[in-house]
Amino acid sequence: DAADKGLYRHYMLKEIYEQPDVIARVLEGRIHQGHVLEQVFGSGASELFDQVKMVQIVACGTSYNAGVVARYWIEKLVGIPCMVEVASEFRYRKTVCMPGTLFITISQSGETADTLSALREAKEQNYLGFLSICNVAGSSLVRESDLAIMTNAGPEIGVASTKAFTSQLVVLMLTTLVLARRYGFDGEQEIVAQLEQLIDLTEQVLALDPQIQKMAEHFVDKHHALFLGRGTIYPVAVEGALKLKEISYIHAEAYPAGELKHGPLALVDEDMPVVAIAPNNSLLEKLQANLEEVRARGGKLFLFADSKAQVKPGNDLELITLPDVPTVMAPIIYSIPLQLLAYYVACLKGTDVDQPRNLAKSVTVE
Ligand code: G6P
Repeated sequence: DAADKGLYRHYMLKEIYEQPDVIARVLEGRIHQGHVLEQVFGSGASELFDQVKMVQIVACGTSYNAGVVARYWIEKLVGIPCMVEVASEFRYRKTVCMPGTLFITISQSGETADTLSALREAKEQNYLGFLSICNVAGSSLVRESDLAIMTNAGPEIGVASTKAFTSQLVVLMLTTLVLARRYGFDGEQEIVAQLEQLIDLTEQVLALDPQIQKMAEHFVDKHHALFLGRGTIYPVAVEGALKLKEISYIHAEAYPAGELKHGPLALVDEDMPVVAIAPNNSLLEKLQANLEEVRARGGKLFLFADSKAQVKPGNDLELITLPDVPTVMAPIIYSIPLQLLAYYVACLKGTDVDQPRNLAKSVTVE
């Protein structure tokens, strides 16, 4: 029963732990013989997808962060342009719609006022079609879109979105694959197999819980934190910072790692923990110099990396080693320890984890 916390202290923790099951549900009935079924997007999906030359994603909050991950995937695997914008900006500015653009809204609730208004606004323009990626069947966004695919995460009670985010990412990967096959991408079966392995990987990452709980102790007396990531992991860093802000009230900012020296490095000292998310060594190599700069300034580093990470141990470094994951799956897997980190920091601070002050689960008015 979704409305029951069961043995969990908070809905948020329960929802974090539901993620392996949620991922299984997202994939259920959507895959056949290593391929994504197109009819799950709604009737007429195939004909519409045949004409897609560009993608415009619009969303808010966590759903927006999922959209930013998708931009990396779509441009890499499909090879067509993909733009992403927060709905409150999109709806109020003059935008330009190129022919053949698929308009995608992402929303847990399907009722976010800005996202809904952006969709209505876009319908006045010549978009090719409208796809909604949503967790609530029958919601306004779903009803007003041509195509819809459900994220099947089940009701999410905690205000800070967790399972809704990872399920959005899985659906966005399914969407990427159906578009990519039209542009000669031949790696679909491999990625589908990787998606199927996600369930097991997610379980493995959840098993890091005690380590993350311990790491959280370092954040309790801090007022700021910096999150760094690159590529698809940059939006994951943004989402990790958002989680920490939302429920622990610690000011957290995320930067693409390469931007560190363009400003935020000036803030780094012993009171500014730096969380670096570096799923593979090639990213870590690039981060290396930045990380050393952080350490040289007395900053403490909290690194999430895989077993290949080569980094100088020290008192100024806390490392959590994740299982090796295929590169495209990294944003999904690496989101999870950041959810747990925010959760345990908030618990230690004694905030109202499931209902943080000033925030609402669904922002249905402007
Ligand atoms: C609120 C919630 C967030 C959510 C955002 C967008 O700010 O607190 O968790 O990401 O709205 O909501 P949606 O339902 O459109 O995904």
